[in-house]
Amino acid sequence: MSMDVLDLAGRPVIIGGGIAGLMTALHLAPEPVLLLSRSRLGADASSAWAQGGLAASLGEDDEPALHLADTLAAGDGLCDAEAARRILYAGPAAIEDLARLGVRFDRTPEGALRLGLEAAHCRRRIVHADGDGSGREIMRALVAAVRATPTIAVIENIEARRLAVEDGRVTGVLANCSTGPAFFANGRVILATGGIGGLFHDTTNPLGSYGQGLALAARAGAVLADLEFIQFHPTALDGPGRPMPLISEAVRGEGATIVDETGRRFLDGVRGAELAPRDMVARAVWRHLADGHRVFLDVRERPGATFARQFPTIASACRGVGIDPARDLIPIRPAQHYHMGGVAVDLAGRTSVPGLWACGEVASTGLHGANRLASNSLTEAVVCARWVAESVAGSPDDGGKPAMVSDLPAPDPRPVRPLLSHALGVTRDGEGLKEAARVLLLLLQRHDTASDPAAVGMMIAVAALLRRESRGAHFRTDFPLHAAVARRSQITLDTAMAAARELASSPTLESVL
Ligand code: SIN
Repeated sequence: MSMDVLDLAGRPVIIGGGIAGLMTALHLAPEPVLLLSRSRLGADASSAWAQGGLAASLGEDDEPALHLADTLAAGDGLCDAEAARRILYAGPAAIEDLARLGVRFDRTPEGALRLGLEAAHCRRRIVHADGDGSGREIMRALVAAVRATPTIAVIENIEARRLAVEDGRVTGVLANCSTGPAFFANGRVILATGGIGGLFHDTTNPLGSYGQGLALAARAGAVLADLEFIQFHPTALDGPGRPMPLISEAVRGEGATIVDETGRRFLDGVRGAELAPRDMVARAVWRHLADGHRVFLDVRERPGATFARQFPTIASACRGVGIDPARDLIPIRPAQHYHMGGVAVDLAGRTSVPGLWACGEVASTGLHGANRLASNSLTEAVVCARWVAESVAGSPDDGGKPAMVSDLPAPDPRPVRPLLSHALGVTRDGEGLKEAARVLLLLLQRHDTASDPAAVGMMIAVAALLRRESRGAHFRTDFPLHAAVARRSQITLDTAMAAARELASSPTLESVL
């Protein structure tokens, strides 16, 4: 390992082997780059689990302005409209990039891209590959392309544990691998580490995604944005397995309905019903469950007989728990699915720390606002990877410095899960958030394996406490209305710790907020 490390010094380092990391590496070629992956490439990335595909305005009845309008409406007043405009207008070209790299998208018999419908989209604009196996097919093609690119060095089964920072800029990455700690001296690091589902009991993400990139960035002093906005998918399969199998919104796009144990379509009072924005459907399902009902997805009539052919992954997950979707109702409940918040970046992926970029779910560009429009995230990752790569390539490595290596044990998110699952779910309230922030601060200060996950959870809890309104996916039972002005939020580890300390020592919430 040590000889390899010396050979690789000075290359930009990409942390994360999902779609954002792989696309950034491919766009950087032929510049030599090093990609670090926690597992074998493609094995543990949430990208590979994506069913929904990529949203892009490709239909004859569609245009980017309509896609933008849907995105801004779902984002509930909090999107960065200019970032959204630039990303969504670049969406169709991103699909072409993927097709050129060998992704086999689903097509009509005439060869046109087959376009699906998902909630809160006014047009059919979701591009799929292999039915509900879009992420898997995209990852297949990108992993093959990366392996075939000699300038991309890949180290697998390695976990980045800290960023070295000197005089405010990144100077390297400290990582743990099977042979012990390693240090990669370089002044250009790109975080592409994915989301935070592993901080929750009920999630559709791989449990190995628990906000490692947020912890790396926060400990390096970076500004994080909109952390309180966490998307819950309304239709996770409510069986014994964790993580929970996702039942794609595309199934509702093909006509499936949500019913309770009496057969009642209780969403009929919600505008848009089953195809209302995801936060509204998730809250309605959550409330119905809390009222003692059971909730199901009914695919028997529509999509009906074609269901298993159109959605083979979902059909197989159902059969795995003894449900025959052609005959049975499918039990569902909301589960953590996506993090709208992340490391604050501009459209070139630059964070507030010189030498540090972020791309994909770990980053917050402002596209998603308070509630992500379905299938916008893979589009964002592919579009932004190109801009991140251009920015990295245009920034010489003037920061790499050798450093002492030390052993940091692997983080363990398990102590944090009950706290976030309870206080930061579909609905929140001030007292629950305050208690979570207080306990998470204690866990963080123990400096053990739960410290990094606790730091991430604590920053999210503080951001949620400070947002005294309900907006998009952030619903406060004690502040159920919008504030007069929509503002994005920003936080650092230091400011969050100071707020949590004050909360812990204050007898009432009101004296702090
Ligand atoms: C889904 O297929 O419902 C998920 C798509 C997404 O989260 O964008």
